[in-house]
Amino acid sequence: MSRKVVVKINDQGFNARTGEILLDAALDQGIAVPHDCRAGQCGTCLVRLKRGVLLGGDTSQPGLFHACQAHILSDADITFEKLPPVGERRGVVTAIENLAPDILGVSIQTERRLRHRPGQYYRVKFRGYPARCFSPAPPFAGRSAANVAHFHIKIVRGGRVTPNLGSVIALGHKVVLEGPFGAAFFRPGDGRRLVLVASGTGFAPIWAVAAASLRTQPEVPLLLIAGARKLSSLYAVPALCRLALYPRASFIAATEDADRHAPSEIIRPGTPLDHLPPLLETDLVYAAGSPKLVDAVAKKAAEVGATFFADAFVANPPEEPTWLESLRQTLALARKGLSASPRLAGNTAHAHSDDAR
Ligand code: FES
Repeated sequence: MSRKVVVKINDQGFNARTGEILLDAALDQGIAVPHDCRAGQCGTCLVRLKRGVLLGGDTSQPGLFHACQAHILSDADITFEKLPPVGERRGVVTAIENLAPDILGVSIQTERRLRHRPGQYYRVKFRGYPARCFSPAPPFAGRSAANVAHFHIKIVRGGRVTPNLGSVIALGHKVVLEGPFGAAFFRPGDGRRLVLVASGTGFAPIWAVAAASLRTQPEVPLLLIAGARKLSSLYAVPALCRLALYPRASFIAATEDADRHAPSEIIRPGTPLDHLPPLLETDLVYAAGSPKLVDAVAKKAAEVGATFFADAFVANPPEEPTWLESLRQTLALARKGLSASPRLAGNTAHAHSDDAR
């Protein structure tokens, strides 16, 4: 039988019933706990339990729970970090560039300024297409305006969205950004070493965290490990060169085909995990990219009790376009005088389902 308990969230108290989902109970009271997927996946709803008992929603970090999965079992005292509010921003595509044969840099300018923490992500909806999640990253050189977001997007063969970038989705295409979401964002620290690990376009949120740290706390040690399957996809090199200017920052780039090229101290063969140094309990560890990599880094961090934040990229299932969508795309291509298999120059490799981010 459920009973009445008192829950305090960020010092705002309210009555709840045992068994209630914490997120639902908070939202019912008008307490805007940030959330997105409601499925324990995105980490946007992470809260810290200071006192009391929750059932479910626990994470590898003691005291850290997914509010969307946690059932209230007793009186509780809970906190969460205040984040920029989730909202919608309308914008247009203002630039598309090749970062690598299979990766595009896409810039979107919005009507109003964007507010997100470095490492968070948006749900990006190009007009006429389903939404996909991408993390904005700072440009490799210079700074961008507050109403411009730069995304690193892998072109995925068979995807419903990314193969159309640069052809049907061209400059001026209308976009809606919803967000920001995600909990793997930069937290100005207490001098603790940052260990940042990325695979593929997981480099976008990791670079956002790295750039924020270099800007605000250049004296803090930072190690960035970036990986790509192929040397040709290692688009992170310009950013890694920028890290070289900071004496407290170091980086490793790893590619699985590095053996076939000239291996060096900087570009090493293997995956980022192969080059992860022993972690320390005091480290702040971030990982983004393939779930396999993120899980492996999470385990290493948990072994020593290091603080860990993750942004796993889960692929959207491949879907057949509706007949209406197919017709719309074909007509749009015909209007632009393009063939039905749009490609940007240099595209050579694709995966088989649309990337989530
Ligand atoms: S809203 Fe709880 S994990 Fe996404």
